[in-house]
Amino acid sequence: MRKLTYFIACSVDGFIGDVNGDAAAMFPYVDEEFLDFLKTDHPETMSTPGRRALGFDDLENKRFDTIIQGRASYDVALKEDITSPYAHLRQYVASRTLGESPSPDVEIIADGLLDRVRELKAEDGGLDIYLCGGSRLAGELFDEIDELVIKTYPVVYGAGMPMFGAGFDVARFTLGGVRSFGNGAVVRTYDRER
Ligand SMILES: NC(=O)c1ccc[n+]([C@@H]2O[C@H](COP(=O)([O-])OP(=O)(O)OC[C@H]3O[C@@H](n4cnc5c(N)ncnc54)[C@H](OP(=O)(O)O)[C@@H]3O)[C@@H](O)[C@H]2O)c1
Repeated sequence: MRKLTYFIACSVDGFIGDVNGDAAAMFPYVDEEFLDFLKTDHPETMSTPGRRALGFDDLENKRFDTIIQGRASYDVALKEDITSPYAHLRQYVASRTLGESPSPDVEIIADGLLDRVRELKAEDGGLDIYLCGGSRLAGELFDEIDELVIKTYPVVYGAGMPMFGAGFDVARFTLGGVRSFGNGAVVRTYDRER
């Protein structure tokens, strides 16, 4: 079984961005030490333009070979005229409104999201699946999430977009690892208790 991993940047108080989802206040914490960590452990979680700009577009995928994101998250790339933001991964975008995909590299999932994700998880071999967000998609896929990788930056938003756009529920996770960085960022990994 391939894992569905929600790999997400958030504030200390659990927001993935401001009320509109803008996460720019966290970007300055992606400094040299943090980039080194991403490059070594999770190079595939950087977008194609980001990898190119940093000169590591040729790095092999380590943890993930597939990405799924919600249409609003994909819109962030589309607004920059980027139709294939993670060209090094198999890309899926959940959307009932987009219709035809803007790129042959991106498959749109309009119906049967849960079934499609379960099929992807059940595929033989391969690496895991990177659930990129945003909040609403993570809420929809909450029960299918097997692992959390939470990049917490030392900022408090007070209000904003929550990690999960879903109703109240309690799900238990086991701490798998913690790594802290000189600038105060902390990356925690949690495995779901099933
Ligand atoms: N901090 C971080 O690491 C991080 C990571 C990713 C994203 N973000 C931020 O998150 C924000 C977007 O989050 P969001 O919660 O507003 O939106 P989102 O989850 O990215 O996308 C929501 C959209 O996904 C589609 N969708 C959701 N459930 C579906 C289903 N069951 N079947 C088919 N389509 C489905 C719908 O698209 P249609 O309306 O087209 O039907 C829905 O409007 C962005 O601002 C982005 O910057 C932050």
